[in-house]
Amino acid sequence: MRVFKTGWISLAVLAALALSSLAAPARAADAAKPAGTFAIGDKTFLLNGKPFLIRAAEIHYTRIPPQYWEQRIQMCQAMGMNAVCLYIFWNIHEQKPGVFDFTGPNDVAAFCRLAQKHGLYVILRPGPYVCAEWDMGGLPWWLLKNHDIKLRSLDPYYMERCKLFMNEVGKQLAPLQLSRGGNIIMVQVENEFGSSGNSDKPYISAIRDVVKAAGFSDVQLFQADWSSNFTLNALPDLFWTLNFGSGSDVTKEFSKLQQMRPSSPLMCSEYWSGWFDEWGKPHETRSIDSLIGSMRDMMERKISFSLYMAHGGTTFGQWGGANSPPYRAWCSSYDYDAPISEAGWTTPKFAAVRELLSKHLNPGETVPEAPAPFPVIQIPAFELRETAPVFSNLPPAKTSEAVKPMEDFDQGFGSILYRTKLSPSDSPRTLTVTEPHDWALVFVDGKRVGLLQWRRGEKTVRLPAVSKEATLDILVEAMGRSNFGPSVKNYKGITQKVELGEGTDKKELKGWEVFNLPMNDALLAGLKFAAAPAQGPAFYRGSFELAATGDTFLDMRTWGKGLVWVNGHCLGRFWKIGPQQTLFMPGCWLKQGANQITVLDLDGPEKTTIAGLAKPIIDQLRPDASLLHRKAGQQLDLAGVKPAAEGQFTTAAAAQDVKFAAPVKGRFFCLEALGTQGGDTSAAIAELNLLGADGQPLNRAAWSVVYADSEEVTAANNSADQVLDQQNTTFWLTDQTAKPALPHQLVLDLGSVQTVSGFRYLPRQAVRGRGRAAAPTAGLIKGYRAFVSESPFKF
Ligand code: GLA
Ligand code: CA
Repeated sequence: MRVFKTGWISLAVLAALALSSLAAPARAADAAKPAGTFAIGDKTFLLNGKPFLIRAAEIHYTRIPPQYWEQRIQMCQAMGMNAVCLYIFWNIHEQKPGVFDFTGPNDVAAFCRLAQKHGLYVILRPGPYVCAEWDMGGLPWWLLKNHDIKLRSLDPYYMERCKLFMNEVGKQLAPLQLSRGGNIIMVQVENEFGSSGNSDKPYISAIRDVVKAAGFSDVQLFQADWSSNFTLNALPDLFWTLNFGSGSDVTKEFSKLQQMRPSSPLMCSEYWSGWFDEWGKPHETRSIDSLIGSMRDMMERKISFSLYMAHGGTTFGQWGGANSPPYRAWCSSYDYDAPISEAGWTTPKFAAVRELLSKHLNPGETVPEAPAPFPVIQIPAFELRETAPVFSNLPPAKTSEAVKPMEDFDQGFGSILYRTKLSPSDSPRTLTVTEPHDWALVFVDGKRVGLLQWRRGEKTVRLPAVSKEATLDILVEAMGRSNFGPSVKNYKGITQKVELGEGTDKKELKGWEVFNLPMNDALLAGLKFAAAPAQGPAFYRGSFELAATGDTFLDMRTWGKGLVWVNGHCLGRFWKIGPQQTLFMPGCWLKQGANQITVLDLDGPEKTTIAGLAKPIIDQLRPDASLLHRKAGQQLDLAGVKPAAEGQFTTAAAAQDVKFAAPVKGRFFCLEALGTQGGDTSAAIAELNLLGADGQPLNRAAWSVVYADSEEVTAANNSADQVLDQQNTTFWLTDQTAKPALPHQLVLDLGSVQTVSGFRYLPRQAVRGRGRAAAPTAGLIKGYRAFVSESPFKF
C-alpha cells in the first residue's frame, strides 16, 4: 500500500508539473528523458549546456504562512532573481522521532513547485544541520535525550537519525530534481561545517552519501563555508561555494578558492543582506550601498550568488534559535533588514537590487513587476479581560529526586516548573541554580523573589527568611537553543543542580515536583480562564471583531515577556526589552467577525490592551540594564601589572597568533590597544581566543567579557561580547559617537584558572556599512599589550 501510494503521489506530482510548467524553465517529462541538465563548466555553470548565472533568493517556507508563499516567490522574481534557495528544517518535520510531517505549512515540495510554476530554479539545503537562527540549527531537540550524543559527527545514533530523516526528504523532493522534470539544480551537503571549528572529513563524506542515498543522486552537490576555513572539510568531489556579507571584498573572499580551483565557477552561497536581531540589542541594519557594492562586483564578474535573506519573514512559534556564550536569543521578527520586508513589502533595498540585477540577466530572462501587496489593517486597542494564572493551571506533577533538564522530562519547548520544600530559616539564604536555561523566576510561597537570566550569567538569588516550611518554585522559560558552534548541544530548564546555603555549607536540594508547561496547543486547550485580574505569570485572553482582514502588527509595548496566539497560530515571542515591539500578524490567519487572542506573559503586563498597527516597530530598544561591560566611572588600572606580551599586530585580515615567552596561569585576560593601523583612535576586535598549553584555542563556553572601556552599543550592535560570538563578521568597536582616546582595553573572565600560552586575535573584517562604524577599517589595532592574571584586575 505504502509503495503504491508513494508511486501514485509522484505520478500526480509529475502530472501537475506537466500542466503547470508551460512557463517554467524545465518542462516536466517522462522519467526516461531528462528534462534538463545543470553542470559545472569552465568558470561558469551550464544550464542545458549554456552558461548560466545564478541569482538566487534565500527564503524559508517555515517563516512565511503558506497562503503567502506564492506572493513572496513572485516578489523574489520581481527583484531580479532566477532561483530560490531554501533550507529544510528537520525539527519542524519530525517533531516526534519517526513521525514525519510534510503537509500544509510543512509541504516543502509544494513550495518548490510554486517556484517552478513561476520559472524559478531551486537550490536545496537539507542540512541535516542548517544554523539559520533556528532552534538547535534545525536539529530535533529529542536527540538530546541521549546525553552521550555527539551532534554533527559520526556518532552512530546521530547518523542513523540523519539517514532516516534524509530519506523522507528524498521521498518528497528527489522527484523534483531538474533531471527528473523538476527545478532543483543544486543540493547542499551540511552547512558551514568548517566554520563551526571542526575538521572531520569522514563525517562530511558520510552526510554526502546520506544525501545521495536519499535520492539526490543526479543533481549537483555542493558545500558552503567561509573563505577563512572552507578547506577544513572541503571534499574533492563536491562543488565549493563561499558565504560572506554586504560590503565584503569579493576579490579577497574568493582568492584562495580560485587558486585551488582556477576553472571553477564562483558562487557566494550566502550573501548576507542584513543580519538577525538579538533580544536586548540594537536592531541590525546593513546599508544599501554596502549591499549593492559587492553585489555589483559579483554581477560584473559573473559570480553567482544567493541573497541571504531576500525575504527573512518571521520565526513563528518557539522556533527561534540562540547562541552562547554569552547566551543570546533571537527575536521573532526575521526581517533581517532584507530587501523584502518581514511583511513582504518592497523597500528601498528592493528597488536597488532590482535595478542592478535587471542589467545582468541571462539570455531570454525578463524581470516581472512586483505582485500586489496584501492589504494592511489597523485594529483599535482592545482589552484582554480573561486570565488564567500559570500556577492555577498546572498539569499533573512528575517527581524527581534531582533536578534534570527539560529534555529529560520529555519536553522540548516552553517553560518548566520545578517545586520543592524549603526548610524554615530565620535568616535569608542564598539559592544557587546551575544553570538556569534561559530565564528563570524564583518564588517562595507563591511570591516572586528573584529573576535569573542566563544571558547575564546569573545563578544566585537571596531567599527571604521563612518561619515555617515553605514552597520553593523555579519557573524556567526556554528561549531557543543555540544554533551555531559547539554550544548547539544545549539543554533547557535547570541543567545541573540547585543548592541552598553559602560557601562550603551549600546543600543540594532534592525531592522535586516537576510540571511540564510546553506552551503548546494541548496545554492552551486545557486552560481555565476567569474574568479577573491576574498576578504573576499568566495567560490573558480576549477577542476582537474585524469587518475586513489584512496584515497588521500587534503592539506589545505594554506587555512583559511571553508568547502570543491568534486563532490558534503562535505568532512568536515578545519581550519588552526590544528591539522588537510588535508581532507580525498575517491577515490570512484572521477572519471577519470575532478573532481570539491569547497572550502568555511570564513577567506581567503594565496594561492588558493590544492594538494592531499599520507598521512594524522592530527597532525600539528598552534595555532593562546597562548594555555596557563597564560600571559608571569604572576605570581599569594596569599600573604595575607586567604584560604577558606586547608588540604590534600586522595589517593582515586573518587571525594572528601571539605566543607568550612561557605559558602562564590565569583566569583574567586583558587585551589593551595602544594604537591603530590607520591612525584613528578606535579599537575593534572580531574574535578573541586564548591558546592553551598545547597551543590550541581553548574552549570558550564558560567565558564572559567583564570590562570594555568603551563600546558602540546603541548606534549599532558592536558590543564587547561580539568577540566571543564565533562570528568573524561581528566585532567589538569602541563608541563611534564619543570617540574616546586610546588606549582601549577589553577584559575576559575565563571562569576558572587555565594555562595560557598565547592568544589569537581576529581583526575586525573590513566590512562596509555596519551601523555607524564610519570607516570600514576603524579600530584595526596595531600596538598592543596583553595581560594575564589569576585574580581580577584592579579598577
Ligand atoms: C550562516 C548560516 C546561516 C545563517 C547565517 C546568519 O551563514 O549558514 O544559516 O545562520 O549565518 O544569518
Ligand atoms: Ca565576532
